[in-house]
Amino acid sequence: MTVRDRLVVVGAGAVGSAIAWAAARERVAGEVVLVDPDPGSGASRVAGGMLAPISEAWPGEREVLELGAASLARWPAFADAVAQDAGSPVGLRREGTVQVALDAADVADLDRVAEHLRAWGRDVERLSGRAVRRLEPSLGPAVRAGLAVPDDLAVDNRALLAALTAAGRRRGVVVERRRVERVLDDGARVTGVALAPAGSSGSPGTVGGSGGSVLEADRVVVAAGAWSAALHPVLADRVRPVKGEILRVRARRSSLPPPSRTVRAAVSGRPVYAVPRDGGRLVVGATQYEAGFDPDVLVGGVRDLVADVERVLPGIADYALEETAASFRPGTDDNLPLLGAVGPAGLVAATGHGRNGMLLVAVTVDAVTAVLRGEPLPEEARPAAAARS
Ligand code: GLY
Repeated sequence: MTVRDRLVVVGAGAVGSAIAWAAARERVAGEVVLVDPDPGSGASRVAGGMLAPISEAWPGEREVLELGAASLARWPAFADAVAQDAGSPVGLRREGTVQVALDAADVADLDRVAEHLRAWGRDVERLSGRAVRRLEPSLGPAVRAGLAVPDDLAVDNRALLAALTAAGRRRGVVVERRRVERVLDDGARVTGVALAPAGSSGSPGTVGGSGGSVLEADRVVVAAGAWSAALHPVLADRVRPVKGEILRVRARRSSLPPPSRTVRAAVSGRPVYAVPRDGGRLVVGATQYEAGFDPDVLVGGVRDLVADVERVLPGIADYALEETAASFRPGTDDNLPLLGAVGPAGLVAATGHGRNGMLLVAVTVDAVTAVLRGEPLPEEARPAAAARS
């Protein structure tokens, strides 16, 4: 027997929390239960929070870029709606991005990106090294050129998570602090989720010991990020962990002030970014490599981030190092997320967002709530249909 009209959302990162909030707000189910053993502790907690479609996708990845652009356009309304329900801001910043070049190859890349963005109708300004340093005086002498993208946004990932929790609570989302082992179905329809015994650790997909239980539901959204593949056979091998490490730093009273815009660069071929936060803080990221679910922050990762960001923002050497962290982006083979119905009736995917989880939250929420209302996946989300082959 299945409990009728209960929606279970697996995973309380930004994507799952936003879907649970929106589903409860739109009353697409009688009850919305958000299940996660440690809400807000995964990739969303570690994210840089850039909402900058061009920066995270190779210009050739047209569908990734278009999905990102569709989401960027939705972000201000999404942020306002969450903030209004939460009664607290989500930390949206509108200062834009500057992408900077350190050598001749980077300058050629900047020109290509500028051309691409202009072809797309985005407002960009190509700047000399001197002009970009006038805009952001913390940029160092190694910077030879820059590209200002004023319409890019950024969000404080932790403020967003807190606001989504408050907004969900206000709309009646029930939070269940348990680990989901797998989604259950009867061969045709979803019937619920198997929960690990309370307090158990380990990865989803492992068989629970005694004390596990079933939470019945007629619809289940899988928003478990890098852990999604183990939750149902239709998702097996479709999402993998892509490790990333970040630093969180703070300008001290004696330090050069931090940039007000998101700064991006490639140093020795390695991409690096610094995303401003309130209080003189910056999130500096990010390494990217395949290491399974290895949770350690490696010394080599920190060394590379420090060396690379210091080439761009030399004053950072005097900042306080407040935190290092690692997490796992949910990677897919084609860098597009998995959205919408897949497998047995009632199973909906909202995972596989790769480097773009924060950016794609807004379009994901709209797409998944449309599916939960019984509508087809909206046009702009179709390239990311979970049921694609
Ligand atoms: N979008 C930031 C990152 O994945 O590093």
